[in-house]
Amino acid sequence: MSFKNIDKEYVANTYGRFDLEIVSGKGSLVYDINGKEYIDLATGIAVNTFGVSDNEWINAVTEQLGKVQHTSNLYYSEPCAILAKMLCERTGAKKVFFSNSGAEANECAIKTARLWASENKGEEYFNIITLKNSFHGRTITTLSATGQDVFHKYFNPLTDGFLYAEANNIDSVRELVGNNKCAAIMMELVQGEGGVMALNRDFVEDVCEVAKENNILVVIDEVQTGNGRTGELYAFQSYGITPDIVSTAKGLAGGLPLGATLFFDKTEFTLKAGLHGSTFGGNPIACAGAINILNRLDSQMLDSVKAKSKYIFDELSGSEGIKSVSGLGLMIGIETEGDVSEILAKCMEKGILPIKAKSKLRLLPALNIPMELLEKAINIIKETAKENKQ
Ligand SMILES: Cc1ncc(COP(=O)(O)O)c(C=O)c1O
Repeated sequence: MSFKNIDKEYVANTYGRFDLEIVSGKGSLVYDINGKEYIDLATGIAVNTFGVSDNEWINAVTEQLGKVQHTSNLYYSEPCAILAKMLCERTGAKKVFFSNSGAEANECAIKTARLWASENKGEEYFNIITLKNSFHGRTITTLSATGQDVFHKYFNPLTDGFLYAEANNIDSVRELVGNNKCAAIMMELVQGEGGVMALNRDFVEDVCEVAKENNILVVIDEVQTGNGRTGELYAFQSYGITPDIVSTAKGLAGGLPLGATLFFDKTEFTLKAGLHGSTFGGNPIACAGAINILNRLDSQMLDSVKAKSKYIFDELSGSEGIKSVSGLGLMIGIETEGDVSEILAKCMEKGILPIKAKSKLRLLPALNIPMELLEKAINIIKETAKENKQ
C-alpha cells in the first residue's frame, strides 16, 4: 500500500513532494515502492554521508541504541564527549555545542556572536552581516539571517539586526561594517540553496581581514559544506582561514539529526551555564553515528571526494546542453540550456535522483559513491541535458 494519500491528507502542506516513495536502499542505490532502482545523487540533501543502510554506521548506531538512547544534558555521556574532542582535534576548535539541526546550530552561533559582542564591544554591537543569496535556516532568526527576500515574505517582523552584503564584493562588506555597529559576519563558503556558488578565495580572505581590522567575528555556516562534502573535513580548511564560530549539521551524523556549533579561540568561553541548551542536543545515538562518520572521513576518503569532483567537472564542463558547472567537492550545481525541471523529471524516469538548487541541477551524492555508479549517472545527465537543449 502506498502512503502517498495518507501523507497528502495528514502531513502539513509545506513540501512540494515528487511522486516518489523510497522504501529501501543500499549505499548509493535506492528503491521505490514499485521496486524501481535509482542512483541516489542527493542523499537526503547532503545527509546520508555514506549512503543508505551502511553496515558500519548501522553497527555503531545500534550498539549505542542497545546501551542507552538518551540521558539528558544533566549528566555526562561518552559519545557526546568523544565527538566534541574529535571535532576540536580535527578543526582547531576549542569547544562544541550540540543541537539537532542546521537552523539550531546557526541560532546558537548567532546568540554566541551577540553575547561575545555584548561582552567585548557593547550591547549596541548586535548587527550581523550575512550575504545576499545566502540560506541559513527556517526559524524566524535564521530566516532573518537568510539574505533572500523570497523567504522573508509573510513572516515579518523578523529578528532585527541582520544586514546583507553582496557576495564577492568586499566594498559592500566594508560599507556595512563601516556604517553599523557589528558583532559578526556570517557566510556559507559555498552557497548551497542559493545555487551552489563557491565564494571567491580573495573575497573570503578579505572578509577575514576586514573582520580582524574591525574586531568582529567570522562565522562560517558549514551546515551543507561540512563533514567531507567539499573534499576537506570543513570547507573553511580548503579556504585556509581560521573562523571564530562554525556551524554544521546535515551529514555530521550520517542520517540522524545532529547539529554542532564549534567555538574557536575568541569564543571558547562565551557561552556560560544557563545561557543556552537543547533537550536532544548531543543525543548519544546521533553522536555514536557521527563518531563513525568522522572516523571514516580520513585523508584517503577526502582525496577520493576531490577526485570524484574533478571527474564530474571534467565530464560535464563544455558538454552539449550544459552551460556551466559550479561548486566544490561533491556539492555541484549544473546550469543547463534546457528547462531544469524537465531535465530533472527525465533524469528521474531514467533512474537517477539529482535535485534542484534555484535553476540548477544539484548533485550531492554519497561521498563513497562507487565510481561505476557515478559514471553511469553522469552519462545520463549528459545525455538528458543534450536531448533537452533549446
Ligand atoms: C547552509 C545551510 N544552513 C542552514 C540550513 C538549515 O538546516 P536545517 O534544515 O537542518 O535546519 C541549511 C539547510 O539546507 C543550509 O543549507
